[in-house]
Amino acid sequence: MRKFESKYGYFDEAAREYVITTPHTPRPWVNVICPGDWGVILSQTGGGYSWRKHASLNAVTRWSQDIVRDNWGKYVYIRDDRSGEVWSTSWMPTRRRTDSYRVRHGIGYSVIESETAGIASSLSVTAPPGEPLEVWFVELANRGGDERELSLFSFFEWCLGASPDWHREFHRAFIETSLEPALATMWARKRLWEIPDSEGRSWNRSWGYTAFHASSLPPEGFEGDKEAFLGMYGDMARPAAVERGFLSNSNGKWTDAIGSIHVKVKIPPGESRRVSFVLGVVEEGREHEARALISKYRDPLEADMARERAARFWARLLAPYQVNTPDDAFNLMSNTWLPYQAISGRMWGRTGYYQSGGAYGFRDQLQDSQIFLPLDPSHTAKQITLHAEHQYADGHVDHWWHPISEAGGGGLYSDDLLWLPFVTISYLKETGDFGLLDVAVPYRDAEPESVWKHCLRAVDLSLLRRSERGLPLILGGDWNDGLNAVGTAGRGESVWLAEFLCAMLPDLAHIARRRGETGVADRYEHSCRALAQAVNTYGWSDDVDGSDGSDDVDGSDGSDGGDGSRGDSDGGDGSRGDSDGDLGGSRGGWYIRATCDDGSVIGAPSCRYGKVFLNAQVWAIMSGIAGERAGRVWDAVVKHLSKECGPVLLSPAYGEPDERIGYLSRYAPGARENGGRYTHAAAWAIIAAVMMGDTSEAWRMYEAICPVRCGSSPDRYKAEPYVTAGNAAGPDSHAYCEGGWTWYTGSATWLFRVGSEWLLGVRPEWDGLRIDPCIPAHWDGFSMRRVFRGATYEITVVNPEHVSRGVARMTLDGSDAGGVLLPALGDGKTHRVEVVLG
Ligand code: GLC
Repeated sequence: MRKFESKYGYFDEAAREYVITTPHTPRPWVNVICPGDWGVILSQTGGGYSWRKHASLNAVTRWSQDIVRDNWGKYVYIRDDRSGEVWSTSWMPTRRRTDSYRVRHGIGYSVIESETAGIASSLSVTAPPGEPLEVWFVELANRGGDERELSLFSFFEWCLGASPDWHREFHRAFIETSLEPALATMWARKRLWEIPDSEGRSWNRSWGYTAFHASSLPPEGFEGDKEAFLGMYGDMARPAAVERGFLSNSNGKWTDAIGSIHVKVKIPPGESRRVSFVLGVVEEGREHEARALISKYRDPLEADMARERAARFWARLLAPYQVNTPDDAFNLMSNTWLPYQAISGRMWGRTGYYQSGGAYGFRDQLQDSQIFLPLDPSHTAKQITLHAEHQYADGHVDHWWHPISEAGGGGLYSDDLLWLPFVTISYLKETGDFGLLDVAVPYRDAEPESVWKHCLRAVDLSLLRRSERGLPLILGGDWNDGLNAVGTAGRGESVWLAEFLCAMLPDLAHIARRRGETGVADRYEHSCRALAQAVNTYGWSDDVDGSDGSDDVDGSDGSDGGDGSRGDSDGGDGSRGDSDGDLGGSRGGWYIRATCDDGSVIGAPSCRYGKVFLNAQVWAIMSGIAGERAGRVWDAVVKHLSKECGPVLLSPAYGEPDERIGYLSRYAPGARENGGRYTHAAAWAIIAAVMMGDTSEAWRMYEAICPVRCGSSPDRYKAEPYVTAGNAAGPDSHAYCEGGWTWYTGSATWLFRVGSEWLLGVRPEWDGLRIDPCIPAHWDGFSMRRVFRGATYEITVVNPEHVSRGVARMTLDGSDAGGVLLPALGDGKTHRVEVVLG
């Protein structure tokens, strides 16, 4: 059965594959396949690239970011040796009309199937877990009545190091390829790697790996030279070597290096043949490992099995958490695609089509690692200690760093360091493993201290960095990277950061008390009250608008609420609340976002642009500091920010660059942080909705950002319907509702957490697992398998009275559970939990 079918594709019955039925999707629809070390990204046209450990410092093949052309990839050409006809297993690069075309993006693999000139071909690409390579398994079936003689030519360009090697004439002078016909293998090395060696010397080391490309059949020939393959001024759609039907065996030093292997197959009518290719990389000196892998995958059975093994690896990883609700889109995202995206794309691959990355972002991968909490929290623990190693003894942290080179740094973001305690708290609530706090981890610049000390240093530095009014300094930006000019002189303040601190200080005080550190606990509780008071005194828009006397950012009185640049969004069907004409004259009733170094205010009704910001409202609710104002704050969110595309980050979008704010204001209006729906923050808005008891808004927001739902208008949304988009264009954009920046976004983990902990309401707390669902009233119920602190809970929720909230009864293994908090049984057993709403 096909699920959520559009004119471009559908989910298969088990929703573990998204099947694309044409190469002409509105944007490249890709799969990021990374079981840890080796990674490959593949689009529905056959585009993409491969890497080991780091997608841009250690790219194995070349790629150039061009979302419109999507014409860089690793391809397999097919040539009919009798007729001379040429096509490829993927639509690119020959772009032949095919009789059928299907791309199945699965969990850990992709398969491209097509039929051209009477030959059905299937190219399956997978990255076997634990092995530094990818396997391409090709099956060709002769659908006609005559025997066919076919040639296959693999093709890609070697990169072997930092990407993009835009100065190819320079880089090619360091790449050396060699052939080993007896092993059906091409080897490739590079004598230069731009990253510093252990003594810090740059541009003076070898790449450090050996790459290999091999085929299962004995090759007719090889090619290492792009010019010999394509022909001078040649065309990827008709490479000279493929047209003539043989390769020149050129290789060595120092051509514009490619990898190509030519094999031949004869296929009688009605029969099929299998060929596999591998592409991999071993550390220099470990070529024996490569040889073993090459021999292993020469066996077509092994190559074929690789895909199944990969699928099993992923299925096992995702198995501990499974839900079954009446909402199939919710199910398939929660059970499969969100965790896969978060782990394969964000944690391990750290790359996508919209951003070829590879580095660790301090706040990014820490937040992402929360995906493992209900799956295998040991991965979260590892991430916590890894990030703690990138902290300095004064508490500050690297904004980002590169694995392999360890180079890092970045701007002076005021929030980065606080994600360490934030994620540590999440980990402790999930696992109860307080031992992690005592694990000693070195600083970048000092001897090891406990994880707890690392957390305290982060919090204490943040509490120190406050203005005279007691609000945290925003410095070179906070969670919102685009606010990077607001406080560089050390005076601008962040209201959101104060709220973020308030959201975690009570938990930190709780931990401190548990550890007997009463002084710390008292201090944090006091700081929390002081911050809350500062926010409520100086961060409230009525005060700013009326009595505070601060200038707003551009000095206008904000009476018109726009610059005339707002797109004429048609609003589509049933668009709602997309006119904020009332925002211009509003007197506020919400929290401001920040103040600039010069004292001007961001996010107040008096501002011309950016009158109201999402995060400042949502976290005021999440932290509890909004108190009685919560209702007004939530009204402002619903009225001014909740749009058809989901809750936008701010409104109205900046219509022109404002140098006091930073690059946020330089984006096109409605794009990304400038008034787009930033999915990561939109997920937080759902938490606030649940806390406010606004079930219908919570689910409306979820549906507005759920890619499956967005994908039902594929020509408008454009992005993949199976993974979250980092952002969708806001109402001030000409491309309203268009999704972008897929895969490489922190929203996957957050949408997963929000769905599980807030919508389904199964939430780890200090003393157990709280059951507090917030579901659409028409649901009859749902079920969830949830591992928590060493026991498995099979939770069944029934909703006989069709309410959206409220637990009437809960039993644990048949007996009254005595409340809505499941105790941590930790006995390795499976327990039955029955919950009746009403
Ligand atoms: C990007 C950054 C992330 C930041 C967000 C909002 O996604 O990777 O760290 O919080 O933008 O600006």
